Amino acid sequence: MSTSGTEAGALQWAIRDSLLSYVTRIARGTSEVSGGAQEGEGGTFRFPLTRAVQEGADWRLSFAGSVRLRAHHGHLDILIQDPEVAIGPEGGVLATHVAGAPDALLPLVALSPAEPLGADGRLQWSDVEAALAGNAVEMFGSVYAAGTEMAPIGIEFALDS
Ligand code: HEM
Repeated sequence: MSTSGTEAGALQWAIRDSLLSYVTRIARGTSEVSGGAQEGEGGTFRFPLTRAVQEGADWRLSFAGSVRLRAHHGHLDILIQDPEVAIGPEGGVLATHVAGAPDALLPLVALSPAEPLGADGRLQWSDVEAALAGNAVEMFGSVYAAGTEMAPIGIEFALDS
């Protein structure tokens, strides 16, 4: 196992294109980033890496920042806060911390099995498929069934020298 808190890197995730356009254009709601998360081009959110732990072929990665989508006078309130990713050749999960419950993690999507590409001291996972986790169905208003395809995930970071 190796641990580090010093890597420069990030998680990139657009959540789901149709959701973002629904919230911001159809429902005329808002999308807010804070705590170091940024909204990039094409509605892809970027969360900076804070910690990376390798366990065999798997990685546990912690990221900072939050994205909050709100509409319908707060009835739609989707928070992705300080996401945590477990990823490896057997599959993985992306989970969010929950407001007001610092120890609680809610799995958002199951990730397809993925192995990183490594070059120049960096590791990179591109377009990892993501399917909605059963626990997150309610958070999205029970509109998408468990297993619904969400936006693919990208991760990259520098390994310690
Ligand atoms: C005032 C109550 C609401 C109305 C009138 C409403 C209306 C709609 C309509 C018309 C669509 C279809 C949009 C389209 O595809 O063109 C839709 C989709 C959706 N709604 Fe609502 N909605 C309401 C409340 C909510 C709430 C409270 C949530 C979540 C907690 C929610 C989540 C969603 C989601 C996730 C979609 C699918 C977006 C997509 O991927 O296309 N809605 N809603």
